[in-house]
This record gives sequence, C-alpha cells and structure tokens, in this order.
Amino acid sequence: MKKKLISALLCLTLAVSMLTACGGGSSDSGEKADTTEAAEDTSGAEDAAEDTGDAADDAASSAGVDVKDAKVGISIYQFSDNFMTLYRTELVRYMVEDLGFTESNITVQDGKNDQAEQTNQIQNFITSGVDVMILNLVQSSSAPQITDMCNTAGIPVVYINRQPDETESNRWEDEGIKATYIGADARQSGTFQGEEIAETENKGDINGDGKVSYIMVQGDPENIDAQYRTEYSIKALNDQGIETEELLLQRGDWDQAKGQQIVQDALTQFGDKVEVVFCNNDAMALGALQAIQAADRKVGEDIYLVGVDALTDAVQNIVDGSFTGTVFNDYFGQAQGAGDLAVKFLNGETVDAVNMVDYVKVTADNAAEILEKIQ
Ligand code: GAL
Repeated sequence: MKKKLISALLCLTLAVSMLTACGGGSSDSGEKADTTEAAEDTSGAEDAAEDTGDAADDAASSAGVDVKDAKVGISIYQFSDNFMTLYRTELVRYMVEDLGFTESNITVQDGKNDQAEQTNQIQNFITSGVDVMILNLVQSSSAPQITDMCNTAGIPVVYINRQPDETESNRWEDEGIKATYIGADARQSGTFQGEEIAETENKGDINGDGKVSYIMVQGDPENIDAQYRTEYSIKALNDQGIETEELLLQRGDWDQAKGQQIVQDALTQFGDKVEVVFCNNDAMALGALQAIQAADRKVGEDIYLVGVDALTDAVQNIVDGSFTGTVFNDYFGQAQGAGDLAVKFLNGETVDAVNMVDYVKVTADNAAEILEKIQ
C-alpha cells in the first residue's frame, strides 16, 4: 500500500519532470533468451502483483492498448549492482502489476558487465521477435550500433540509466528512430552532494585551513553519471567560493568492496588531512564507512561522507549520524517512466528522445521521512 502511495507521488514528480524535459529539449548471438531465468528474476514482483489483477486490467485498457500479449526484452548491465537491482525489481513489478504485461512475456537478462555478451542478448531478443526492448547498456557508447540493430528489425528501444550521448539522442529525433532515454541528470546529483557539504557547520573545512581536502571515489568513468557527479560535486563548492583540494580520485566501479579498499588506503596515506569522502554512489559510500570506522574516524565530527542513490542502509546511516548525506536516485520514477514509454511505443505514439526524473537531496533533515518512503 505504502509502495503504491509512493509510486503515485513519484509518478506525479515524473510527469512534472517529463514536462520540463520536453520544454527544454534536454541536453544529452549467442545463447537463446532464457525465459526461465526471467521468471526467476522477477519473483519479487510476483508477490506484489498478486492482489492487483483489477488494477492491471484497468491500466491496460486505460492505456488504450492491450499489452498482455506484448513480448518485452530487458537487459540490465549487471545484476550484482545494488541500485539496478532495486530498479529492475520495480520495473517488472510495475509492468506486470500496474500496466498489465504478462510476466512470462518479459525476459530479463544479466549483461554481466560485458558489452559483447549483452549485444548477443539483444540479437537474441530480435531473433525471438520481442515487441519492445528496455536496455541498460554496459557501455553507453554502444548505443548507435544497438539502436541501428533494433531499428532495422523495427523494434523500439527504451534506454535506461546509462545515457547515450547527445549526438545519438539527437539522431533519433532527426531520423524518427523509435528510441528514447529515461534517467536522471547526474549534474543535479553531484550539485546536491556538494551543497550537502557546504551546508555543514564548517562548510566541510573541518581543520580550518581554508580549504576542503577530499577524496573522490568514482563509479565507472565511462559512465556519464560518474563523470558528472565527480565534476559537479566539487563545482557546487567552488561556486560558493569554497576552496577545494583533491587528495585522491580513484575509480571504484560502483562497488562496495572497492570503495572500502580505496578509502582504507587513502586514510592510511593521508590520515587527518581527509575532511570529506565523496562517493559517486551509496554502495561505495557504505564501503567507505566501513573503512572510516575501522580507522577510528567519526562522520560528522572529524570527517564527512556523502553518496548517491538513497539505498536503505545509507539513509539509515544518515538517521544514525554515520553518513552526512546522500541523494535519492528515483528508481520508482525512472522504472515507471520506462514502462510507460514502452507502452507508448507499443501504442505507436511518438515520445521525447530524453526524459529526466529529478533527484532529491537527503540529509539529516529529511532522512527519516525518505526512509519511510523507500522501505
Ligand atoms: C547510477 C547509480 C549507481 C549505479 C550506476 C549503474 O545511476 O547511482 O549506483 O547503479 O547507475 O550504471
């Protein structure tokens, strides 16, 4: 019930953001697809779907199209990614429960962080005759090739999470290609992280030497989310006249264990000089927190720590005072938007090339409230 409420609220936010995105024309064959695997992958959604048969029927008819028979191919860049696991669970739940897709018609595959493997999966989706694809590319730079493969086969594509570059999304628009992207503008999440540090009592300058000395734990640098969060978090501080000093920037590939190792080594190397640990996501920030605690440092007292995503553990840590802040990466809005875009394509409607959902800043002020919503 709570889930439904937040879904409705977030949908509203999405609708508003999508309108904004429209106005602004926003910037930026191997093995056979395995439906058994898909059925397993979506078991979480199954429970949620149980009592919603009527709602699904209503949604399907109100969308003006019967999606019950539509075949959907979904490929996620890597199943082990915490955030994308929340995302894909919500995506399948929403498509089955609220939009009326048949669960056994939805195939969800693990790209295993290997573009060649994922390209094979997509080829197999084409061979098996899916009606629409929802793709979280391993490498967003593969979008032109993948889009052409799908377009030639007459299959529309909704790209999620990893944004293809602007040249590519402009091409969809110019050439009338049925492809679209839905995500969130990572510049906003980076800016929010910087603002969270600027809002602390000493503006991040714990030792009072006139500058904020930080380490940056980056996601996969091929990914625009990693690039923008790295850049805009620091820019937000500098824009307020706050001087910064980068002690270390290292890639942690969105991974908790890598985050822990990087921060452990950095704390050994730089000790008390480290005032802020910026992590491009919460998984790495949770790893960073383990390292911070092991080094007997205390968040909020002698070090600050921020992440992005609003994973439950991260938000709980804010409530407990062990995280300075995070940024809610609205997977409800993004997943539901992706499902809606897929239905629009099935309906023959034209959609915008780029659709953006807003991030939400999460600090001690609203962490308890956010926790209520995401649990
Ligand atoms: C980001 C998210 C990361 C990771 C990444 C995968 O938006 O913050 O945690 O899931 O997407 O591309």
